[in-house]
Amino acid sequence: MTEQESANKATVLRFNKEVMQQGNVEALLEIIHPDFINYTAPPGTAPGPQGILDFTINIMHQALTEREVIIYDQVAEGEKVVTRKTIRGRHIAPLLGVQPSGQVVDINIIDIITLKNNRYMEHWSIRDITDMLPKLLTINTTNMKKVLITGANKSIGFETARQLLQQGYFVYLGSRDLHNGQEAINQLKTEGLNNVELLQLDVSDPASVKAASKKITELDVLINNAGILGNVPQPPTSEPLSSIRKVFDTNFFGVINMIQSFIEVLRKSPEPRIVNVTSGLGSLTLHSDPNWKYYNVKGAAYGPSKTALNAYTVHLAYELKDTAFKVNAVDPGWTKTDFNRHNGPGTVEDAATIIVKYATLGADGPTGKFFSQDIEAADQESPW
Ligand SMILES: NC(=O)c1ccc[n+]([C@@H]2O[C@H](COP(=O)([O-])OP(=O)(O)OC[C@H]3O[C@@H](n4cnc5c(N)ncnc54)[C@H](OP(=O)(O)O)[C@@H]3O)[C@@H](O)[C@H]2O)c1
Repeated sequence: MTEQESANKATVLRFNKEVMQQGNVEALLEIIHPDFINYTAPPGTAPGPQGILDFTINIMHQALTEREVIIYDQVAEGEKVVTRKTIRGRHIAPLLGVQPSGQVVDINIIDIITLKNNRYMEHWSIRDITDMLPKLLTINTTNMKKVLITGANKSIGFETARQLLQQGYFVYLGSRDLHNGQEAINQLKTEGLNNVELLQLDVSDPASVKAASKKITELDVLINNAGILGNVPQPPTSEPLSSIRKVFDTNFFGVINMIQSFIEVLRKSPEPRIVNVTSGLGSLTLHSDPNWKYYNVKGAAYGPSKTALNAYTVHLAYELKDTAFKVNAVDPGWTKTDFNRHNGPGTVEDAATIIVKYATLGADGPTGKFFSQDIEAADQESPW
């Protein structure tokens, strides 16, 4: 890439972040050349510099709050830069004739900019805004049950999101990395599963959990799925404390923080459900049985973090026993995912099925129990 091509990419990136995302008018005036022509100006806006100012600052920024521009690809050649991106925001005022929906909307765009001396000269784009907005008019999520799943950008969490969407739930898809979360959302939308919203959520980061909890006003189900394995192996006599703490921060303290941060919104649901995704490796009874098939899979961090999670689940279920809550620990079973470098007999479909079962329990369902996909008995109840 030439120096000029790199500079052109940097200018386009700056325009997207400073102008589209932040609404910086000075940056817009600096970057847009007075002779600029927008060949795909939105309906009702002028093709020149005034049109882009009107649309970006006076229309789009009034209509969408919590704006964010996510860039997936940028290709520069000669004086042109091509960008594939999503503009995301909460739709709070009329936009292109569509009344505010209150929902987070994605406008997916591929655009081409011609630049001269680091300024925008021409613009073409393909965007789905006009397709997407009218669809909002028909979506009414008011009566849908709402579920939040942590670590849902891939593997078992992602498949759980898919199955719950197929059952008609509205899904808050938790992902610590927004880019990965967006890719997951895009995949679900290509399957026609649209009632899903991305939530930045690193369960080990209290600021992230707090910010996410402020965005949700209705919730029926919380699935604490995010989990990490830690080092392999993790010998009890030598595993560094720092590594053990890291695993506990996600698998144990992260779950507690999630529950404490979302408990009040869950209390408002008539049928609140909490599923703590645990592991057979958290069972002290099974670990004490030399005939258990995973008897030799021992370690200082992962198993103990899930044992602690199981213990917390028992105490939490006890505190909530006289309410409508159902709180259970659910082991998806040994499943092929990135978690274990795709070893293991189980599929994500089966793993998600048991999580979904306990996320959607009826009023007569159990609470304060431990269920496992690896237990052969019909009720799949596991010893603690
Ligand atoms: N796979 C198995 O055999 C198995 C067996 C028993 C229990 N489990 C449990 O099942 C759950 C899901 O496992 P999996 O196999 O799907 O694992 P995975 O493929 O490693 O996926 C884990 C998910 O959790 C996310 N995550 C990790 N740390 C996080 C954090 N601090 N905050 C938010 N998200 C975080 C990951 O995000 P990134 O993509 O950003 O890393 C990813 O989305 C875990 O709790 C695991 O302990 C798995």
